[in-house]
Amino acid sequence: MEYNAKRRGFIKGAGAAFGVAAAVGGVVALYGMKRTWDPLPSVVAAGVTEVDLSELRAGELIRVVFRKKPVYILKKGEGTPTNEKRDIIINGEAYTVVVAICTHLGCIPAWNSNTQQFKCACHGGEFDVSGVNTFGPPKRPLDIPPFRIDGARLVLGEEGEEYKRLASLD
Ligand code: FES
Repeated sequence: MEYNAKRRGFIKGAGAAFGVAAAVGGVVALYGMKRTWDPLPSVVAAGVTEVDLSELRAGELIRVVFRKKPVYILKKGEGTPTNEKRDIIINGEAYTVVVAICTHLGCIPAWNSNTQQFKCACHGGEFDVSGVNTFGPPKRPLDIPPFRIDGARLVLGEEGEEYKRLASLD
């Protein structure tokens, strides 16, 4: 009898301990789920990418990440064809700024400085130095991301006057 009573006591105690553990586990799981649902501060802040272009040389291309997408920024050199519907003018210098995602099926076109073209290896699409489609399956130019000019800095993710002007020319 005494053995049974002890055993019952043990079972009750184990049941209570399991209940507490389950409750704690549930709270931890809910906390984890809430953190998953909440936008992280860094992600919200990552909506804007600022790039200082003061050191960029003529003919040089850099790649930055904007909202998890690659963006090419090319400083046009002397003699490089200009495109008044697409060029971004900063301190009197012309730049090509495009989302580096092919407008056909989304591959990343490569910059070829010899031919002054963006070439997409997936299906042979080609874009000129301003990002305009010139050959192959892409039906439209590379996208220009929203931007604002702040001195020698390009602020990607904000729609400044220059961006609105280019968008109105489309
Ligand atoms: S994805 Fe670029 S040409 Fe098809």
